Amino acid sequence: RMPILEQCYNLMDFEAVARRVMKKTAWAYYSSGADDEITMRENHSAYHKIWFRPRILHDVETIDLSTTMLDSKVDIPFYVTATALGKLGNPEGEVILTRGARKHNVVQMIPTLASCSFDEICDAAEGSGQPQWLQLYVNKDRAITERIVKHAEARGVKGLFITVDAPQLGRREKDMRSKFDDVGSNVQDTGGDNVDRSQGAARAISSFIDPSLSWKDVPWFQSITKMPIILKGVQRVEDVLQAVEMGVQGVVLSNHGGRQLDFARSGIEVLAEVMPVLREKGLQDRIELYVDGGVRRATDIIKALCLGAKGVGIGRPFLYAMSAYGLPGVDRAMQLLKDEMTMNMRLIGASSVDQLEPSMVNTRGLSMH
Ligand code: FNR
Repeated sequence: RMPILEQCYNLMDFEAVARRVMKKTAWAYYSSGADDEITMRENHSAYHKIWFRPRILHDVETIDLSTTMLDSKVDIPFYVTATALGKLGNPEGEVILTRGARKHNVVQMIPTLASCSFDEICDAAEGSGQPQWLQLYVNKDRAITERIVKHAEARGVKGLFITVDAPQLGRREKDMRSKFDDVGSNVQDTGGDNVDRSQGAARAISSFIDPSLSWKDVPWFQSITKMPIILKGVQRVEDVLQAVEMGVQGVVLSNHGGRQLDFARSGIEVLAEVMPVLREKGLQDRIELYVDGGVRRATDIIKALCLGAKGVGIGRPFLYAMSAYGLPGVDRAMQLLKDEMTMNMRLIGASSVDQLEPSMVNTRGLSMH
């Protein structure tokens, strides 16, 4: 028999249920990684190589998990990252994630390729003050991109996350093997529906993405919007320094959930490389660092914050919770993370997130050392 929601005790439990209840094509699209899925596995194992150095005898009676991300106040330092095609998992789509995020006061990053329309997702947050960001795939037709960006700004979106690790979508063979026919209405508006569906969901929706995108386009984005600009999918310190130089407000150290370049490193390992260099150059306050990929436990969140991240993105677990149990599932997944984080902050000896610092982790197990 299927476990009831109260029997899900951690984020992995939702995945196990989703795998059993989801349609095969939807499971294939959500769960797949690129090529041999080595990077997708590494996203988990990298966290397992970092150990804590907890402090003792600091007053941890009250724990404050709140922080700010891109000037928005949030209750806990994770956000719902952008994942395309929410209606594959649940007929209501991304608005379920919006409602969960709203209840817990966390940020939702809205994907360009959402199944719900952008406005439906904004409407679902309206009046709550819940911050939302936009993930942008840049169209070959810049007029379309400009329209999307300006509309997002007008709707109060608080950050523009330009995906820079997907000039072409990676080869996800599980996904390619499963035939796919249900894209969702919004995808047509963004120009993504004019294609061959025999190659899986990812290929079917991505042909509009501009592979000629370059650093030269950054000033153009800065000229068309006042929203902070964040590059999503950065893998090395040279590119973070270039981003600082160009006045970009943030980067997401990410490998797209292991769905793009196989053998790209985990975001947490890249963070361990980047932050010391920024500190050495006195640039740590010039840019916000975010990490995603494989975050499943509050201890993962705490490790990333110790190493200097402002916050972490979480993708698949919320898709699985939504697919298996709808809004109550997303609500419970978020609550579990809050409870885990409160407990583990106590155990590490930090009563607020600004007390998390590099001395609280040992990263010698990471392969960069
Ligand atoms: C993604 N991701 C993604 N990223 C992006 O910039 N645009 C997109 O449209 C999508 N779509 C998407 C779909 C699905 C099904 C997944 C699983 C992921 C990547 C996403 O934003 C994030 O980088 C990873 O999902 C983080 O890894 P975890 O938390 O899924 O392990």
